[in-house]
Amino acid sequence: MIIVAGATGDLGGRIVRELAGLGAPVCSLVRAGTSPERMAAIQGEIRTVDFDDVRATAAAMEGASCVVSALSGLEPVVLGVQGQLLDAAVQAGVPRLIPSDFAIDFRKIPPGTNRNLDLRERFRRRAEQADIRLTSILNGAFMDMLTGVMPVIQHRLRSVLYWGSADQPMDFTTIADTAAFTARAAMDNDSPRLLNICGDRVTARDLAQIAGTVRQQPYRVLPAGTIGMLGLMIGLAKRVAPGKPGDLYPAWQGMQYMRNLFAGEGMLDTPFDNDRYSGLRWTRVEDVLREDARWVGKR
Ligand SMILES: NC(=O)c1ccc[n+]([C@@H]2O[C@H](COP(=O)([O-])OP(=O)(O)OC[C@H]3O[C@@H](n4cnc5c(N)ncnc54)[C@H](OP(=O)(O)O)[C@@H]3O)[C@@H](O)[C@H]2O)c1
Repeated sequence: MIIVAGATGDLGGRIVRELAGLGAPVCSLVRAGTSPERMAAIQGEIRTVDFDDVRATAAAMEGASCVVSALSGLEPVVLGVQGQLLDAAVQAGVPRLIPSDFAIDFRKIPPGTNRNLDLRERFRRRAEQADIRLTSILNGAFMDMLTGVMPVIQHRLRSVLYWGSADQPMDFTTIADTAAFTARAAMDNDSPRLLNICGDRVTARDLAQIAGTVRQQPYRVLPAGTIGMLGLMIGLAKRVAPGKPGDLYPAWQGMQYMRNLFAGEGMLDTPFDNDRYSGLRWTRVEDVLREDARWVGKR
C-alpha cells in the first residue's frame, strides 16, 4: 500500500493515477472539509484525516510500504503538515517517505535566495533525523512553466530572455514525467536517498533555437541584465509588491526561482536517474513547445 498526501493537487493527483495504472494499492489521505468534487477526482481509496492528530494519521497508514508527500504550501504546510505526516509515518512503522521536494537541487542553493526552497532544506534536516528512509526526487523546474508562468520565451518579441549568461544550462522535467517516475520510485523498495531526473537540460540559447524551429521563425536571445541586477529587482519587488500573507507564488518568488536557474544554482547531479525504471518516455522542451504551438491558433 502506497499512501499519498496532496492527492487533490496537480502533481499528487497524477502520482495517484500513475500508481493506480501500475496496479499498486494506493490510498490518498485528504484533510477534513475536502469538497466532494475534489474527492471524486481522486482515483482509488481515500481516507479523511486530521493531520493535527498524529496518532489517527498513523492509524490511517498502518501497513503501508511508502508515504508520498505532494503537499504544497508555506511553512505551516511544508514543515507543519508534512512534519506531522513524517511523525505519523514513523509512528506507523512505514519504512519509506518521499517528501514533497520536486525541485532543483535545493541543497546547493545559497541560503536565503529562495524562500520556498529554504523550507524544503529545513524539512530535509528534520526528516534526516527521523527513523525512516527518505527518497527525494529532484526534477529541476517543471517544464510546463515554459509555456506560461515562467516568462522567458517571449513569442511576440521572438526572443528568449536571459540573465547572466545565455549559455547557462538549466534542468526541466514535465509534471507528468515527474509523476510517472515518482510512482515507480514509490513502488521501489530499494530507491536511494536522491533521484535526479531531467527531461531536458537546456540553455537560453538552446531555447531560442528550439522555439525558432517549432515556430519556423528565427528567435534570438535577449539579455535582461546580470544576475546581480535580477537580485536587486527581487529586493525591489519584495518591497513594492510583497504579495498577500500566505501567498505561495508572489512575483518575487518566481523571480527567485529564475535567479537560481540562471545562476546555475541547484543544477542536478549527473548522471540522471531517468533510466532507473523501464517504460518511461521523457518529454523534451521541443515536445512541449510544439504542443503549445498547436494551441496558439485555437486560443
Ligand atoms: N519544480 C517546479 O518547478 C515546481 C513547480 C510547482 C510545484 N512544484 C512542487 O510540486 C509539489 C506539488 O505541488 P502542486 O503544484 O502539485 O501543488 P497543488 O496543486 O497546489 O496541491 C497542493 C496539495 O497540498 C495540499 N495541502 C495544502 N495545504 C494543506 C494543508 N494545510 N493540509 C493538508 N493538505 C494541504 C492540497 O490539499 P487541499 O486540496 O486540501 O488544499 C493539495 O492536495 C510541491 O512540492 C511543489 O513545490 C515544483
